[in-house]
Amino acid sequence: MTSSLSRDALELMRAAHEVAARAHSPYSGIRVGAALLCADGGMVAGCNVESASYGLTQCAERAALTAAIALGEREFRALAIWASTPRVLMPCGACRQVLAEHAPDLVVQCGCGWLAREARPRSLTRSNLRRLLPGAVSEHDVRRGGR
Ligand code: THU
Repeated sequence: MTSSLSRDALELMRAAHEVAARAHSPYSGIRVGAALLCADGGMVAGCNVESASYGLTQCAERAALTAAIALGEREFRALAIWASTPRVLMPCGACRQVLAEHAPDLVVQCGCGWLAREARPRSLTRSNLRRLLPGAVSEHDVRRGGR
């Protein structure tokens, strides 16, 4: 689905696109940026950081969430993800799970390509976390050893 973006959503996507330029991805060559819109209106961004021990790679989404938590943010409204891939890159399963624990109703928009003149992605997909990860494991499932 390709559609237009509201001004706030566009600003968030621009932040994701901007931070993607700082990705550390010498192995895949894929640059990913993620920007979270916090409940207080602030935006916090993160990029993917790869490791020579491939499994230690950190996705942009979790990098953004970790930074936001460290800044004291606790509520999130929306997430923009921009990737240097030919098609939009949807958040991986691990990121969906971690995000769902903090923001189960998060609006998620994923973009790729960049129309420089209009400063917006060429292609865009919009969804929300409940749709992307139905039945996420929640804190209620694991509290007190699951009893
Ligand atoms: N990547 C992300 O940053 N987020 C995702 O949700 C999927 C994958 C990154 C990890 C790795 O650096 C590259 O994209 C290829 O998997």
